[in-house]
Amino acid sequence: MRYISYRFLISLLFFSCKKEENLNLELRDNLLLEDGLLKIEILADSLDVPWDLAYASDDFLWLTEQGGRISRINLRNGEFETIHFVEEVWRLRTTGLLGLAVHPDFKNHPFVLVNYTVEQGENRSNKLMRFTFQNGRLESPKELLEIQANTAHNGSRIAFGPDGMIYWATGDAYVFENAQDPASLNGKILRMDLEGKIPEDNPFPDSYVWAKGFRNIQGLDFSAQGLLYSSEHGDAIEDEINLIVKGANYGWPFIEGFHDLKEEKEFAEAQSTLEPLYSWTPVIAPSGLTYYQGPIAAWNHSLLLTALKGMALRVLTLDREGKRIIGEKVYFYQRYGRLRDVAVASNGDIYISTSNQDWNPQPGFPKVGDDRILKISIANQAVLEPIVADDLASNTQLKGKELYNNYCASCHKPDGKGVSGIFPALLGNEVVEGDTEALLKLLLSGSEGTQTDQRMPSFAFLSDDQIAAITNYLYQLTIMKKEVVTPEKVAKFR
Ligand code: HEC
Repeated sequence: MRYISYRFLISLLFFSCKKEENLNLELRDNLLLEDGLLKIEILADSLDVPWDLAYASDDFLWLTEQGGRISRINLRNGEFETIHFVEEVWRLRTTGLLGLAVHPDFKNHPFVLVNYTVEQGENRSNKLMRFTFQNGRLESPKELLEIQANTAHNGSRIAFGPDGMIYWATGDAYVFENAQDPASLNGKILRMDLEGKIPEDNPFPDSYVWAKGFRNIQGLDFSAQGLLYSSEHGDAIEDEINLIVKGANYGWPFIEGFHDLKEEKEFAEAQSTLEPLYSWTPVIAPSGLTYYQGPIAAWNHSLLLTALKGMALRVLTLDREGKRIIGEKVYFYQRYGRLRDVAVASNGDIYISTSNQDWNPQPGFPKVGDDRILKISIANQAVLEPIVADDLASNTQLKGKELYNNYCASCHKPDGKGVSGIFPALLGNEVVEGDTEALLKLLLSGSEGTQTDQRMPSFAFLSDDQIAAITNYLYQLTIMKKEVVTPEKVAKFR
């Protein structure tokens, strides 16, 4: 009997290996690392903004699409299966069906958690829901928590901790004060048990709040060491990677990025805020974040980070304790477009999702077949001419066009045509055509949003030189004016 079951097991194993080999996915690229070769294949395509990917221990990849669909892909045979559609999802720009997490012990606790925005009359909220996966369906919906939502800054990510608790990263719901307000659950990382109850060892009595002072978290994951990391969108500057500590304050809206301004230092001192591990200016719009430990040696013990505006996969190498980022590499820059999320399977295969069907596609995207889920795994031989890491120069010396593309084009678009009803066109624009003084004042102080519900951020952090270069490029782009703006002129309006 024993012998037979052993043989049976072996044949099963062999069978599943063989099947995996026979997945026959379309090869998109080969990537050459310092010490190995990878292949990038297309696991799924024609999706509608696959917002969150989560690996379940029974070898399925679960995903949400922004419009409301929840699906899973069998990683052994590639089969795609729609499991559920959340009818009550309210989708607009960055609202919709967002985060998803599956219980790490899926066999015994087949819980699938999602969060999404709903709109009832004037009232907008974010719901955190728990489903139980049984009979091939998501059953027994249970609402764990409902919090304030808005047209932007809804955060989204959910993670299960090694302590068995649920961690939910929320956005400030575009009300900046929320992030520091202890009574608000926005701009926070919240912690609860599987029933949605507040654990007794949370840092503040009778509060879900685990950490506070966040603008808009888009990535959240625990490392193998049990440390919790987040990625966060900065305003016009200073995206962040944070190491999350129980009860800590991360400073938004009083602090952006490192504690480097006088007012920031004062606030940091008074409130004992923590600095990020890492920060980007110009912004890259960091999104999904996953800790990697696995057979790809060059990436072992790192954070994999997808970037939307930055259109790349960034690999952030951690030091031994996981308390510092000691290296950064950029891959696939502009190759697949905006990247929304990343997940790692137990065998070390990596999955990333594109986000080119979303509200803010970059030039040249979406392409036919977007959005996609790409599989990254070790390859034995290069079938295609291999690509390598992108050598992205440091951004300190940018001039005119580059500055505009880095700081302005994400909203007003590279051609200055804007996005109708959201970001005003700069071609044929009254402010651009009007006197230089008003334009410089706008760039130096921003605007509260009189025409749409979006703000124009202040660019006072740029040097006079940089503002002058942007303004001159803008005049070139719009062919309205020949005037040359000097740094001295900018200085006058500070
Ligand atoms: C995060 C998005 C965003 C970025 C980045 C941004 N803007 Fe704006 N901009 C806006 C919004 C929104 C408005 C409209 C503000 C309002 O209604 O008050 C605006 C307004 C303007 C206007 C006035 C147009 C009008 O019709 O009122 C100008 C000029 C302008 N921006 C130039 C720039 C330049 C130059 C940059 C780069 C240095 C830039 N913007 C970066 C969002 C942005």
